[in-house]
Amino acid sequence: SRWWWVVPAAGQGRRMRADRPKQYLELDGRPVLAHTLERLHRAMPEAGLCLCLDADDRWFDPAWVPFADWRRVTGGSERVDSVANALAALAEEATDDDFVLVHDVARPCVWVEDLRRLAGVLVEEPAGALLATPVADTVKRDDGQGHVHATVPREGLWQALTPQGFRYRLLRDALALARSRGLAVTDEASAVEALGVSPRLVASRRDNLKITHPEDLALASHVLATQAALDGD
Ligand code: CTP
Ligand code: MG
Repeated sequence: SRWWWVVPAAGQGRRMRADRPKQYLELDGRPVLAHTLERLHRAMPEAGLCLCLDADDRWFDPAWVPFADWRRVTGGSERVDSVANALAALAEEATDDDFVLVHDVARPCVWVEDLRRLAGVLVEEPAGALLATPVADTVKRDDGQGHVHATVPREGLWQALTPQGFRYRLLRDALALARSRGLAVTDEASAVEALGVSPRLVASRRDNLKITHPEDLALASHVLATQAALDGD
C-alpha cells in the first residue's frame, strides 16, 4: 500500500484578519505552508501529496513543495469538501488499502516523531487513528444566557488534532455518507465515527497548535525555536 498526505489549504483564514490566508503568512522567514509541508516530507518523503488550494489562490508557489510526487486539487466551500475533492482526485491512483493522512496546513508545529508514531499505529489499526491530546482545562457548558449550566467532567475528554489517518476506502465512504446525510463534519474521525467505527487516539505533543488567531503566529514561532533547541539543531 502507498501513503498519501492530504493537506487542506483552501481556507481564507478569516479569524487571522491578515492581508492574505494564514498559510501564506511569514513564520520565521518562510510561509506557514512551507514549514508544514517540510515536516510531512521529513516524516515520510516517499508519500504522495494532495494539496487542496482555493480556486482563486494567488499566493501559492510550487517552490514550497518538497515532495517529488504531488498534485494540486481545488478546495471546496468547507474543509470537508476540500478533503473529499482530494480523495476524488486520488481515485485513479490510490487503492482501497492505501493510507491517507489528512493534516491541516495551519499546524506547522507538529513533531516529525509524532507523525511517524501515528503512521506506525495506522498500519496496525483498521479503524484509523488521530493525534489528540487530553483536555487540560476544566470545561463548562453554558445555559445560553452567559451563566454556567454545568461543568463537563474532563475525565476521558480529548482535543482532536491532526493528522488523522485512515485507509483510503474507509475515509472515502465515511465522507460520502456524512455529506449525504448533511452531518456537520469538522474532522475526518467524526465522519468515520458516524459509520460506527472508533478510530484510535494517539497522544500528540501538546505544542501541535493550529494557527487560528493573530497571536498564534508569535506562539508558533516560539514553539519552533523551542523545538529546534530540543532537537539540538
Ligand atoms: N480549509 C480548506 N478548505 C476550506 C476551509 C478550510 O482546505 N473550505 C483548511 C484550512 O486551510 C486549514 C484547515 O482546513 O488548513 C483548518 O481550517 P481553519 O483552521 O478553520 O482555517 P480557515 O478556514 O482558513 O480559517 P478561518 O476559519 O478562520 O477562516
Ligand atoms: Mg475555517
